[in-house]
Amino acid sequence: MPQQRRDGSNATRRDDKTTAIQVVREKPILREIVQAWSRQGLRIGVVPTMGALHRGHLALLDRARMTCDRVVVSIFVNPTQFGPNEDFAAYPRDEAGDLDKLRDGGTDLVWMPGVDAMYPPGYVTEVSVKDLGDGLCGEFRPGHFAGVATVVTKLLLQTGADQAFFGEKDYQQLQVIRRVALDLDIATEIIAVETVREADGLALSSRNAYLSTRERDIAARLPSVLREIAETATGQSVVLASMLLAAKAKLLAAGFDSIDYLHVCDATTLRPVETVTGPARVLVAARLGKTRLIDNMPVIPQSGGTPGLA
Ligand code: PAJ
Repeated sequence: MPQQRRDGSNATRRDDKTTAIQVVREKPILREIVQAWSRQGLRIGVVPTMGALHRGHLALLDRARMTCDRVVVSIFVNPTQFGPNEDFAAYPRDEAGDLDKLRDGGTDLVWMPGVDAMYPPGYVTEVSVKDLGDGLCGEFRPGHFAGVATVVTKLLLQTGADQAFFGEKDYQQLQVIRRVALDLDIATEIIAVETVREADGLALSSRNAYLSTRERDIAARLPSVLREIAETATGQSVVLASMLLAAKAKLLAAGFDSIDYLHVCDATTLRPVETVTGPARVLVAARLGKTRLIDNMPVIPQSGGTPGLA
C-alpha cells in the first residue's frame, strides 16, 4: 500500500526488506527533489514511459543506471498523442505491477502526474516537428508526434535530466525527439537503446497484449520479413521498390490485414530512399486485427568493399 510522506509524495513498500520506491504525482515536489539532486552534483537520468512495463522498458532503465546517479521513470499515458479513434481508453494500465518491476529494477523516483498536472487548464502550447513528424507513422496518426514531442519536452524540463533514454523500437519517435532537443537547445543528452525482442524476434510492446494466440503467431513474421530486407537492401543495383512490394505481399499472405507503410529510409531524415548508399533503416507499420504493430531494423551495409580502401 502506498504510504503518504510528510512531503506529499508516496513511498510504496512491498515488504520491510525491499527499498522504498518514491512515487511523485505533483510538479512542485518533483522539482524540489530533482533540484536537490542537481545541487549535490548528481547526474539525473529519465526514462519516459506510458507504463504497462515490459523487458524493453526495463532495458532502458538498466542503461540509465549505467551512467546516471539518480533515475526517474515517468509513467503517463499521454492523451495528446492518441487520435480520436485510437486506443487511449483501452491502453493497458497496471500501476501496481509497474511499481513492482521498477522497485526490482532500481528506480529512484517514479513520476506519475495526472492529466491535470501535466496539462494545466487552458494549455495551448504545442511542440510540432515538421517533415520528420509528418511521414511514416505521422501520415497515419495525424498529430501523434506533436503530442509526443510536447510531452517529452515537458518531461525533460520537469526532471532537468542530464540524459534521457529512448528505445530504437520507436525509431521515428527517437529521431523526432533528437530533433526537438537540437532545435530547442535542450541540453539533455538523448540516448538510444536497442530493441528488445522475444525469442522469435517479435519486438516487445505494451500493445502485444492485444494479440490473440493466432495473431501472435502471425506477428512473428514481421521481424523475419524486416530482417530479410535489412540483409539484402544495400547497394546501387538493388531495386528496393520491387523488393518492398514482394515483402508486403508476404505479410498479407501471412495473415496481416493491411500495411500502413513499409519503407527503407535514410536513417536520420527518415525520407524514403530508392537505393541504399548510406546509413538506412527499414521501417514498417502493419495491422493485425485491432492491433497496429510497428518495427524497424538497420539496413546492414554490404561487406566486401574494394580491398585496401578504408
Ligand atoms: P512507451 O510505448 O511506453 O515506450 C517507452 C519507451 O520504451 C520508448 O522509448 C520506447 O521506444 C521504449 N520501448 C518500447 N518497447 C521497446 C522494446 N521492445 N525495446 C526497447 N525499447 C522499447 O514511447 C512511449 O511510451 C511514449 O510515446 C513516450 C515517449 C513515453 C511519450 O509519451
